[in-house]
Amino acid sequence: MDIYGTYRQTMDKVMQDLADRIRAGGNPSGHDKLYEHLSCRIKSDESAREKLRRKGLEESTENALLKLKDTIGLRIVCRFVDDVYECVRLIRELPGLRVVKEKDYIHDAKPNGYRSYHMVIEVTVDEEDVAGNNPGHYFAEIQLRTIAMDTWAALEHELKYKKDISNQEMIVRELRRCANDLAACDISMQTLRKLILS
Ligand code: GTP
Ligand code: MG
Repeated sequence: MDIYGTYRQTMDKVMQDLADRIRAGGNPSGHDKLYEHLSCRIKSDESAREKLRRKGLEESTENALLKLKDTIGLRIVCRFVDDVYECVRLIRELPGLRVVKEKDYIHDAKPNGYRSYHMVIEVTVDEEDVAGNNPGHYFAEIQLRTIAMDTWAALEHELKYKKDISNQEMIVRELRRCANDLAACDISMQTLRKLILS
């Protein structure tokens, strides 16, 4: 059994239910889809344990479910920046969840150029949680970004796993430049869409 123990089934249920509700809200009939794709995952046993060790916490089911807020993860990739914020609004209005933390790395990009909108939410579900509550509470992290930001994040992620890479400094600098170029393009595309549709 993995670190999530008997709670794993409920985690899957929470994740699927969230994804289903966002899919339903993000596909209004007669309108364009609000997002291009939505994916979800439960953090693997191995990375949950690794993250707990990194944070200096004991590798327990309690800590995995209560201290890590991204064991249930959803990613929503949109074509336009406005759609990202529209999705954020949609998520905030879903019943049975509370937004615990929000970070707008689109407005305030990370120094390396990373852009995305992050939400940590607490979902209430008709199942027991690790603290013994029923209905229980489960945390999930939702990352929202444009296709351009997503491509960039995937490439930058690759860099983190490469050790002893030559030209590291140049690559980091060029990645930052690309992130800024992509952000400028995202804004132009958004503006053009408004002009075309108005
Ligand atoms: P942690 O989950 O412990 O990292 O908490 P935090 O509060 O630092 O979260 P943060 O919002 O900074 O990042 C959460 C997740 O966003 C990470 O696990 C990554 O998936 C993604 N992320 C954040 N920063 C970067 C980045 O610089 N590059 C890429 N590729 N992904 C990032
Ligand atoms: Mg982090």
